[in-house]
Amino acid sequence: MTTLKPFIIGSFMLAPALAMAAEQIVVQTDSTSLVLTIGDNGRLYQSYLGKRLANPADYANLPLGTETYITHGMEDYFEPALHINHADGNPSTLLTYKNHTTERTDAGSKTVITLVDTVYGDEVELVYNTYDKENVFTTNTKITNKGKKPVEIEKFASSMLHFDRPEYYLTEYNGDWAAEVKPHTQQLHYGKKEVDTKLGTRANMFVSPFFQLGLDQPAAEDEGEVLVGTIGWTGNFRFCFEVDNLGGLRVISGINPYFSSRTLKKDESFTTPEFIFTVSGTGTGTASRNLHDWARRYRVKDGMGDRMTLLNNWEATYFDFNQDKLIDLIADAKALGVDMFLLDDGWFGNKYPRHSDTQGLGDWEETANKLPDGIGRLTEEAKKQGVKFGLWIEPEMVNPGSELYEKHKDWVITLPNREEYYFRNQLVLDLSNPAVQDYVYGVVDGLMTKYPDIAFFKWDCNSPITNIYSNYEKDEQNRLYVDYVEGLYNVLERLQAKYPNLPMMLCAGGGGRTDYEALKYFTEMWPSDNTDPIERLFIQWGYSQVFPAKVQCAHVTTWNSDAPVKFRVNVAMMGKLGFDINLHELTADELAYCKQSVKDYNAMKPCVLDGDQYRLVSPHSGNHAATEFVAKDKRSAVLFAFDVYPRYAEKVRNVVLKGLNPSLRYQVSEINRFDGKPGEVKEYSGDYLMTVGIPAFTTGKLSSRVYSIQAI
Ligand code: DGJ
Repeated sequence: MTTLKPFIIGSFMLAPALAMAAEQIVVQTDSTSLVLTIGDNGRLYQSYLGKRLANPADYANLPLGTETYITHGMEDYFEPALHINHADGNPSTLLTYKNHTTERTDAGSKTVITLVDTVYGDEVELVYNTYDKENVFTTNTKITNKGKKPVEIEKFASSMLHFDRPEYYLTEYNGDWAAEVKPHTQQLHYGKKEVDTKLGTRANMFVSPFFQLGLDQPAAEDEGEVLVGTIGWTGNFRFCFEVDNLGGLRVISGINPYFSSRTLKKDESFTTPEFIFTVSGTGTGTASRNLHDWARRYRVKDGMGDRMTLLNNWEATYFDFNQDKLIDLIADAKALGVDMFLLDDGWFGNKYPRHSDTQGLGDWEETANKLPDGIGRLTEEAKKQGVKFGLWIEPEMVNPGSELYEKHKDWVITLPNREEYYFRNQLVLDLSNPAVQDYVYGVVDGLMTKYPDIAFFKWDCNSPITNIYSNYEKDEQNRLYVDYVEGLYNVLERLQAKYPNLPMMLCAGGGGRTDYEALKYFTEMWPSDNTDPIERLFIQWGYSQVFPAKVQCAHVTTWNSDAPVKFRVNVAMMGKLGFDINLHELTADELAYCKQSVKDYNAMKPCVLDGDQYRLVSPHSGNHAATEFVAKDKRSAVLFAFDVYPRYAEKVRNVVLKGLNPSLRYQVSEINRFDGKPGEVKEYSGDYLMTVGIPAFTTGKLSSRVYSIQAI
């Protein structure tokens, strides 16, 4: 072990540091430290990742640790972070420390450490951003070919982290369409476990781009050390967990290298996407709240702004609508009291009218016999009613039954000399091609130019990349997966620049796209097509591990109409509330309740969307579920309690609250009752509510209650 001189980040911009002075580089938030050490051999090691140490002098006592960013072809026998093939056939890279800089940012700090292969000239920048208060790190790499000849990069991780603990437990979230984010926990033993996707566009259909790593014990809500990580990449990703012969664990995160190697010409760079993580010593609840705060403040489009309630026509009409029906629905939106009417799929195509999902994608003009006066008539009607108008699009896709396909087969991702395979009867447009990027940008820009009153888009994406072949990338087909995503970002960046205040919903046949890079451009996302409220208790619970309620659209529909309307509404109130239901099929009492619920939701919205979320009773744990949202000043909170299918003679337990101020007194009352009557007001101390709790559960089947908790 070397003798180490600690080099702690100060609060000033540091000029490029001299290698001799910088034996340790400490990247830290208010509560977590990552300590990197330059060994005597000039290579960079991870000496520590965990709770921030109280005494900076102690960093010098840390062991050297494991090489930070391990490369292929040298003395390591496990999965590398980086694999570069050089022009002379040498497939190895050896990285040594060159320099680093640290600067203060509004949120924390940015550290860039440059490593270099002195023989071949490969350069790697390890970039670390900290968000100090939120205890969040984002990290990525920039790989530059500073050699004389082109190189092929085969593996290019965003991050590599090392752990040395007796036990590791991985919780991943996977599933399928309408069955997203199911948690699965396993202990990691010797060997490799990969969580990855190869779906391209609808990349998260089978697995979510995040995980929880329980250190020494399985990740738990309120106790234990846990790292929660997620990748900001709207395409194929991979998390690789490998336990080695000595029991060390490496976690490699980044783009899935599968069929994605690429050539870097001399002086060309490749920048990897961000791996975002937080480390908590008090379980996943704290980790989620850290990520929610970070997301709202620094990541999600208009993260601190308001969100619109809405009436969507998808499940109310599917493709079966016309101008008159939509005008009636706009009036319904007004009567319900929501902010916006959202017109879904089925409004476009003339030669190939979009009467079902079999045709029309690509032809973004209104179907004349459905909407004779165009979208303009609808925005005009919305304006008259005082509601906003939103529109569904799926601009990255094409149906073979479309004029676009007839005109521009060269823009379609499809294999030569093979019969086409269709997923939902459609194909993906080739966004690696700048002409296609212009076209996709033009879909939104064209609509906005013609109809400036469009106030919202739902951007759908129903197919993975199938028939993988690009007419544009003829000579380097393995660039397509990555270049596609970069093409998409290019389009979204241009749209953001021109329409910075245009809210958009990220949707991919349900939760097929749910990552924090896309959410830079989207105000919210569609977690699942499954809106059965029982299923949604689980699905929203799953996404809440990483995403705040503010980005989770939750609509009241007729999926599982065994559940009373109140149960359905209460589940949806725990996210961004919308309705996707034929209001005329509701009874008068149900309709009155829905109208009152929109008002109640508007009153609680600041707490639900911007407060701290506490997952109190998991739907996975039995027949009940409870979630609480607490305002940042702890003076108000909302509690949602659900009874799903309680057992006969079941003993019902109190719901014990969290996050309140123990020394304040609170008035607690049931609100949003179906009978419209005010609930009884009771008074408790915060201490009592967080120790004894309240009897919020019942033995009623599919019943729910909402409580308002207000400091006196
Ligand atoms: C899939 C989405 O998830 C649905 O909400 C709906 O917009 C349909 N596509 C429309 O085709």
